[in-house]
Amino acid sequence: MLYENQFVIETNSLCKTYYPGIGEQNKPALVDLNLKIKKGEIYGFLGQNGAGKTTLIKILIGLIFPTSGNGNLLGYRFGDIRSRQKLGYLPESPYYHTFLTATEYLDILGKLHKLTGKQLKNKIYMLLEKTGLKDASDLKMREFSKGMLQRFGIAQALIGDPELVIFDEPTSGLDPIARKDIRNILIDLKNDNKTVFFSSHILSEVESISDRVGIIQKGKLIKEGTIQELTSLSGYEIRVTNIDTLSLPQLRSYGNTSVQKIDKDFIISFPEIDNNELINYMNLLVKAGARIISAECKKERLEDIFVKLVKEKEE
Ligand SMILES: Nc1ncnc2c1ncn2[C@@H]1O[C@H](COP(=O)(O)OP(=O)(O)OP(=O)(O)O)[C@@H](O)[C@H]1O
Ligand SMILES: [Mg+2]
Repeated sequence: MLYENQFVIETNSLCKTYYPGIGEQNKPALVDLNLKIKKGEIYGFLGQNGAGKTTLIKILIGLIFPTSGNGNLLGYRFGDIRSRQKLGYLPESPYYHTFLTATEYLDILGKLHKLTGKQLKNKIYMLLEKTGLKDASDLKMREFSKGMLQRFGIAQALIGDPELVIFDEPTSGLDPIARKDIRNILIDLKNDNKTVFFSSHILSEVESISDRVGIIQKGKLIKEGTIQELTSLSGYEIRVTNIDTLSLPQLRSYGNTSVQKIDKDFIISFPEIDNNELINYMNLLVKAGARIISAECKKERLEDIFVKLVKEKEE
């Protein structure tokens, strides 16, 4: 395949400025954006409202054109319709012909992908089941709820067995069960060595399934990395009981520790302690007669990193 030795998505110094209205200022939506996404990756794309996520996705798909810069999708230049053959796309605000049922709609799309007969029937059944729409398969889509339409959006994107899926906020408007279903669909795609590029505002979700994330702000990529690279360890927390504050062994030498009382227990936080020091401290606690209920290492959440980064860049 053409892109086998290349990146599935590659952008080179991509810039986009929408033509401003009369009297309005030129406001770039994308600035010098360079991305390289490998086959088999799940890439989460984050940014505040208006940061430029949908703009990038529309350029990748070929719906709009960059002001400058270029790039490839599945080995073809942006806008080349051949790139769409193995692409599954969920738009941010999809529109469907809602006088059709989900089955009828998927049947038409399947035929466009040259699926026929039993193969097509099985595919439609499997997709409706996966997206939780089996019981609504013969309902006209005008009767669908917002979440049902969103689930359908995922199903329609997968009908052509795509190599790459690009989902603009796939779990927007979905209930927790549906969100979990969609997460599992994305993980299944990865396990089949497909590539997933998605934007989302639900950072816990992005953290749980992405291999890498990119964060954009005002059109600029301000951070990119694996989840491990972005979310560093931020100390330990232990919960102890059977002791009073006065008997707690000396904490001063362990950095910015803090103690919080909850019922009869104490939660002691150690943002700067290392493993050996922690074990020493726990031994001191036991010697002082305390009972250790739990000890856990704390990691910075993607949400904390995101908020910190965005605020930093705004200052
Ligand atoms: N068709 C358009 N014409 C003019 N400006 C636009 C157009 N579409 C988007 N913009 C502007 O481009 C910038 C980026 O918008 P974009 O839709 O890409 O953001 P986003 O990151 O997808 O936001 P959200 O999280 O709200 O979906 C915004 O300042 C927006 O006002
Ligand atoms: Mg958007």
